[in-house]
Amino acid sequence: MKIFEQVSIQLNKLFKDFGLDENVDIKISKLEDVDYQIDNLVKFAKHDQINHIMKEVNILLSKSKVIESYEITDNCFINLNLNLNRCDKFLSNIKNSLLTDRPKKIIIDYGGPNIGKPLHVGHLRSLNIGRSIKKINEVIGNDVVTDIHLGDWGMPVAQIITYCELNNIEIKSLTVERLLEIYPESSELYENSETFKKDAQKINKNLNNSNVEVLNKWSLIREISVEDLKSTLSKLSHDFDLWLGESSVNELIKPMIESLKTKGKINLDSGALVSAEETDPKILITKSDGSYLYLTTDLATILNRIENYDFDIALYVVDSRQKLHFEQLFKTAKYFDFPKRKYEHVDFGTINDKEGRPFKTRDGGTKKLLSLYNETFEYIKNINEQLDENIIHDLTNTVLTYSDLLTNRRTDYKFDLEKFTNISGKTGIYVQYAQVRAKNIIKASKYKSHNEKIKITSSAERNLIIGLLNLEIVIKQSLKFNEPHHLANYLYEICNLFNIFYEEENIINLKDEKIKKSKLLLTSYFLEVTNLVFISLGIKAVNKM
Ligand code: ARG
Repeated sequence: MKIFEQVSIQLNKLFKDFGLDENVDIKISKLEDVDYQIDNLVKFAKHDQINHIMKEVNILLSKSKVIESYEITDNCFINLNLNLNRCDKFLSNIKNSLLTDRPKKIIIDYGGPNIGKPLHVGHLRSLNIGRSIKKINEVIGNDVVTDIHLGDWGMPVAQIITYCELNNIEIKSLTVERLLEIYPESSELYENSETFKKDAQKINKNLNNSNVEVLNKWSLIREISVEDLKSTLSKLSHDFDLWLGESSVNELIKPMIESLKTKGKINLDSGALVSAEETDPKILITKSDGSYLYLTTDLATILNRIENYDFDIALYVVDSRQKLHFEQLFKTAKYFDFPKRKYEHVDFGTINDKEGRPFKTRDGGTKKLLSLYNETFEYIKNINEQLDENIIHDLTNTVLTYSDLLTNRRTDYKFDLEKFTNISGKTGIYVQYAQVRAKNIIKASKYKSHNEKIKITSSAERNLIIGLLNLEIVIKQSLKFNEPHHLANYLYEICNLFNIFYEEENIINLKDEKIKKSKLLLTSYFLEVTNLVFISLGIKAVNKM
């Protein structure tokens, strides 16, 4: 934390002098009367020089101007309370304090829908988590590229083309509705009809060999599908830098395989190609009929990304069921001596219905994301009939995003519209309402900042200030683990603190101009922080409610 920069440097030096390999970690305290806690020394409680170390820590802390009071407990926790006399400097600089000294280039692979299928509820978490991780990285100054990485190649597309050929359907005149029906019909035929299966396999082979006629059909299907995906995504306020996918690397696979053969990294195994790495089972790179696997395209995608968007870190926001796939992918990329980069599978659990069952439509089909949006929209509209439709739209996306990000991404959760729209619960509606309240006071008082200072007059104000200063810690925490839920929970906490501060006194009617201005300034800092958090979560703050 910037406010503790000096203290941290000094403590780190002290740790080093005593031979402790520790980097001071200042944590937000959960104790009622303590602001921050340092627990680096807890594990050294039995260190033979611990008394000496503590004495030095004591001297150091007692000299710091940013610390109002501190305590070192018997089990070596250091409890700190902040001196807020100097908080203005830090509050007014909060946005810059988040910036990283060493910006990184990050590629985020998320969304990942398959062409021929609509976006469904199962895509919601990848979209929300992916977008939030993108935004958090942008807020701290990293360079981010997002890729939707479509499933737009291979057997599923071959099945659709086969179906159209057999039924004399002209792909050019296909509507998206019809396309979405064909997908399940054709995959059923593939399972149940041997001749259909043979035909589809032939088409798939032609697709892989870039047969012009098949490629043209593929391209039309992709176009129809992408247009539909884009329209749903824009409704949900998502966009992507790159609309690449499995198809984008088809041309790269052959040379990749040739080069791996030359390097002795892959072997022939009953017609298939497998990685030469000693693993059990062996890792399959191509099937015996020569067709590619999900892993094959993901390996080539790594090479493609390194070549074209040279990155430091690649994040794959994909559900936990694909854990094994990504473990194999990263392991194999390493074994194949691909350029060294950091890879991470940002996995997540499922979203279930209110009763905890898989989300389905009434007739048992997968629920479309657009239907979920529409139902949420109608639900909010019913509660607030007088609200403008644009605001209902923003609130709908708030609910669909906030409730999703609030849960630790690895945990499954139940989608409960009634609970998620409760204005006094831990909801997107509650946090929107808090910041609208703040905007209303600023507007009503015609407040403009004139370099005044904050004068703390109550514990509610003190708590709010500490809350706002904590943004830096929470952003770092969310970033370190790619876990937006820290920020989502934090947003609720500061909105709570603001509401307590707001209800303490009627700010607009205050007679003492100095105190009034100080409270308005604090309100404007609250708005700045909430704005940054809203951005980081991918939520648009509304101006009226
Ligand atoms: N299309 C895939 C699926 O539906 C998800 C793609 C995730 N990204 C990746 N690079 N594998 O399961």
